[in-house]
Amino acid sequence: VVETAGSDPRDHIPDFHAAGVKVLHKTTSIRHALSAQRGGVDAISIDGFECAGHPGEDDIPGLVLIPAAVAALQLPVVASGGFADGRGLVAALALGAEGISMGTRFLCTVEAPVHEEVKRRIVEAGERDTRLIFRTLGNTARVARNEVSEEVVEIEARGDAEFADIRHLVAGARGRGVFETGDLDAGVWSVGLVQGLIDDAPTVDDLVRRIVAEAEGLLTGRLLRLVEVATAATRGGVVDD
Ligand SMILES: Cc1cc2nc3c(=O)[nH]c(=O)nc-3n(C[C@H](O)[C@H](O)[C@H](O)COP(=O)(O)O)c2cc1C
Repeated sequence: VVETAGSDPRDHIPDFHAAGVKVLHKTTSIRHALSAQRGGVDAISIDGFECAGHPGEDDIPGLVLIPAAVAALQLPVVASGGFADGRGLVAALALGAEGISMGTRFLCTVEAPVHEEVKRRIVEAGERDTRLIFRTLGNTARVARNEVSEEVVEIEARGDAEFADIRHLVAGARGRGVFETGDLDAGVWSVGLVQGLIDDAPTVDDLVRRIVAEAEGLLTGRLLRLVEVATAATRGGVVDD
């Protein structure tokens, strides 16, 4: 499976399909998802406003975007942006998605090839510790709140900023420096709101098993219990505690 994102995947689909590769196209808007569906992709990953990286310019969080995408599309939908645990997985399934995709959560795992300081910061940070940069340039990106992203936001807030005014701050090499050296203020680096729900850096194996176990626990525990209570109430019965 290959995930495409950022622009129209149409030109590459014949090559992928000829090689037996499924194409999952990631987008933050339903209109672009519909266009990708017409173009022949196999599934859509719909990325809510919560996400790390580029959330688009519509600012629609997953709670609305995911069910709206499921209703509009014929293709399978994967929910993305803001997922980190079994609660999110169950919520995504309830909203009609076939599964979840995670960026920030995997960045904070043992296997992620980034400096330990980055993982420590994600564990420590709350859901308010991101900044939206490039807003005024129509290419919004959600990044960690740090000295550099604060400065970019400040420059953009003046109202007449051009890319040339912030280029020196947002250079890709500086961002990579954060991951390599652990200097959290070396540049801008992508991270999502969901860092507010992340408390540890487990192995990927432990993480995925935990998410599945949490989801199963929710479905067969609290949620099943709600159904039992509702069913008993309809029948006029009582459910023991
Ligand atoms: C460190 C990092 C780098 C990313 N780089 C890209 C990228 O190059 N291209 C892209 O389409 N999305 C990129 N993303 C976004 C993810 O693919 C995904 O859409 C997003 O992380 C989902 O939101 P979440 O972080 O809340 O799970 C990146 C995310 C992170 C955390």
